[in-house]
Amino acid sequence: MIKIVTIIGARPQIIKAAALSRAIKNSFSDRLHEIIVHTGQHYDENMSEVFFRELGIPLPNYNLNVGSASHGVQTARMIEGIEAILIKEKPAWLVLYGDTNSTLAGAVAASKIHVPIAHIEAGLRSFNKAMPEEINRILCDHCSTLLFSPTETGFKNLVQEGFNPNNHPPYIADNPGIYHCGDVMFDNSLHFAELAMKQSQVLKNNQLIADQYILCTIHRNNNTDEPERLQQIFEALLEIVKQSGKQIALPLHPRTAKLLKTNLSPKCYQDVISNPLVHLMEPVSFLDMIALEQNASHVITDSGGVQKEAYFFQKPCIILRPETEWKEIVEVGAAQIADASKTKILAAWSRFVEAPPMDFPSIFGDGQAAHFIAEELIKQSQISK
Ligand code: UD1
Ligand code: UDP
Repeated sequence: MIKIVTIIGARPQIIKAAALSRAIKNSFSDRLHEIIVHTGQHYDENMSEVFFRELGIPLPNYNLNVGSASHGVQTARMIEGIEAILIKEKPAWLVLYGDTNSTLAGAVAASKIHVPIAHIEAGLRSFNKAMPEEINRILCDHCSTLLFSPTETGFKNLVQEGFNPNNHPPYIADNPGIYHCGDVMFDNSLHFAELAMKQSQVLKNNQLIADQYILCTIHRNNNTDEPERLQQIFEALLEIVKQSGKQIALPLHPRTAKLLKTNLSPKCYQDVISNPLVHLMEPVSFLDMIALEQNASHVITDSGGVQKEAYFFQKPCIILRPETEWKEIVEVGAAQIADASKTKILAAWSRFVEAPPMDFPSIFGDGQAAHFIAEELIKQSQISK
């Protein structure tokens, strides 16, 4: 039996991990034994526990309960806890997802004690090192042994940074293996889309009308913490509501909910909370979220995952960031980058109203990325024996 330790901590990682846990349960439970470590980076019931219940993920074997803190304090507490678990469990692989502080902590802890790292969602780059995530993902990639990139762009980024696509096994951190294998988030969306449409009551519970609302999420630190940017975004949303008569569904990340009143002008805040078409909501479960995505007419977001899910469900998407790691969806015209500029957001909206995107070619694999990754973890463990 090959033992792997999986690190999760933030909401999207819990969701991504569901795909690999499901593949292990369905096809590889005789060969892979997964130990799940939750760092506790996200801890509210609707940012963590709900996903375990809904997505059928095994409960974490360990919870480090680190909670919120500055980057340094939070990451340091995680490193300490993860190191102790790795020394005790001695896994064949440490599996890391994405680019959060939990990812970085896992990468630092494992690489120093020579536990090989498999990084899922490798190679993504914004080329903007002001983003904490850009630092996390670059550092993690460069101490990983197996790098699983969801897109061709991610794979090419790795090659450009010096990763050799012609390396041969046995792979080690100095001779890593890189793969273009599709996106585990696409696996999940395919798996849960139908169930979400059948089960979710989120539209009914929030008086939302299918196809008559825009789904919006905002949580990036630069958007929430910089009042001018948050103000521009909300002014644009209010103007879109006025022009279109559409509703806006806004499941708010706790970070945004906490800062809305202080970082918007008093007038804008009043306009937002008193507008009957603006539906401010608590964070929703994954099934509710993909029901919201499937029934929306448009998506406006600064989330990495929500950008992609908008694409999976063929919804035009306005990206509230200066750039994106998922540049293919912009290149094919399904998404537009508008940053946090009221003018750019409104221009992107007008373009989508005049000419909605029609073409959503396959970019994120075949829905079997997690199966491929599990097979490769087994194969590479056997080769390195
Ligand atoms: C983190 C990730 C980001 C990811 C996001 C997913 C880093 C650097 N950032 O950002 O890449 O896109 O998760 O959602 O790792 N909070 C709560 N309850 C919770 C969790 C957070 O109230 O359960 C509040 C706290 O005030 C906290 C703030 O949200 O200080 C930010 O949380 P944190 O995990 O530090 O960063 P995120 O913005 O969630
Ligand atoms: N999501 C969710 N409920 C919400 C908002 C998001 O289940 O209220 C899901 C969403 O469907 C996607 C993931 O969380 O799968 C994206 O996470 P988030 O936007 O927090 O982070 P990012 O992807 O930007 O790292």
